[in-house]
Amino acid sequence: MVRVGVVGAGIIASEHFKHIHDHQEAELVAICDIAAKNAEQAAKTYGAAAYTDYRLMLENENLDALFICVPPFAHGSMEEEAAGRGIHLLVEKPLGLNLDEVRRKAEVIREAGILAGSGYCLRYLESVRQAKTYLTGKDIAMVRAYRFGGVPPMPWWGDPAKSGGQLVEQTTHNVDLMIYLAGGVRKISADSARLLFKDSSGIEIPDVTSVNMVFESGAVGHIDTGFIPQPDDRSSLEIMGRGFRLTLEGASLTIAEEGKTTTYLGKGDFYRQQDHAFIDAVKTGNAELILAPYDEAIKTLEVTLAANDSAASGLPVAINKRV
Ligand SMILES: NC(=O)c1ccc[n+]([C@@H]2O[C@H](COP(=O)([O-])OP(=O)(O)OC[C@H]3O[C@@H](n4cnc5c(N)ncnc54)[C@H](O)[C@@H]3O)[C@@H](O)[C@H]2O)c1
Repeated sequence: MVRVGVVGAGIIASEHFKHIHDHQEAELVAICDIAAKNAEQAAKTYGAAAYTDYRLMLENENLDALFICVPPFAHGSMEEEAAGRGIHLLVEKPLGLNLDEVRRKAEVIREAGILAGSGYCLRYLESVRQAKTYLTGKDIAMVRAYRFGGVPPMPWWGDPAKSGGQLVEQTTHNVDLMIYLAGGVRKISADSARLLFKDSSGIEIPDVTSVNMVFESGAVGHIDTGFIPQPDDRSSLEIMGRGFRLTLEGASLTIAEEGKTTTYLGKGDFYRQQDHAFIDAVKTGNAELILAPYDEAIKTLEVTLAANDSAASGLPVAINKRV
């Protein structure tokens, strides 16, 4: 059995608990949260041990794998300490808020020789896999995406020093898909504003952001995101090349070619697939099962942080390709 611990027992952790628990060859042995009630409630449900101090959890439990599910500002040295003990990691996105810190963590992870995945779960959508296969060998000319929805309720979200803002924290999923499907980004130019929630206390992050991108391939693109109240969250990605347009919307994929349009309706639970793939990777040592490795998540973080820098300075930012 793969012995799994989880640090951070909030919203996303409750998703992981289910999938760790229902994996035949995994055991959810320990759950840690600085809010004792969160840890205790979840531990009771899953028959795990509860902790409020992750160091104590690492010390007492003989973990094979750790899921890090704390907010972006709260990672501290969790990754380094787990890696030092040879514990494999699944780290929720975004990996952090400081690129140098995250790169140092990546070095420690590499030196430890452990497996490390990130929480870019949309890569596990069947439609995304189909899109990836379709795009193999094709030249992409333009990539456009958007994501709109309400403001998440957690108090840390509205603080730029804790969440990094919408693009870094949430729309990072969409940016990650753009990079996964269309390749690396070499230049970013962004504008953002605080207009819709400017009178709301506790929301100090921009509420509308528009980003232009130049990809390493030479393709161009953009992404728009904002907290625009509407009945449902909206999110879409469109990739165009000579003779084709590919659209990902929710879990579905549409490919339009001259004279033919095909739609695939996505199925399957991408969180479950991600968590089971990670546990299977730990069990078998096969790193290829992890579709969103930690190192690739650094590139996504770099692009979103560069967009924040560009919005702050009003200048384009060149992306440094170092991991
Ligand atoms: N992959 C996805 O689709 C997805 C979805 C939601 C959230 N997330 C990510 O998961 C992370 C957490 O988000 P959330 O929505 O679960 O937040 P949350 O606020 O609901 O939960 C975070 C939990 O971490 C705990 N915590 C904070 N610091 C801690 C520490 N030092 N030690 C132990 N526990 C600590 C908090 O008490 C809280 O219970 C964020 O990075 C977020 O972006 C990913």
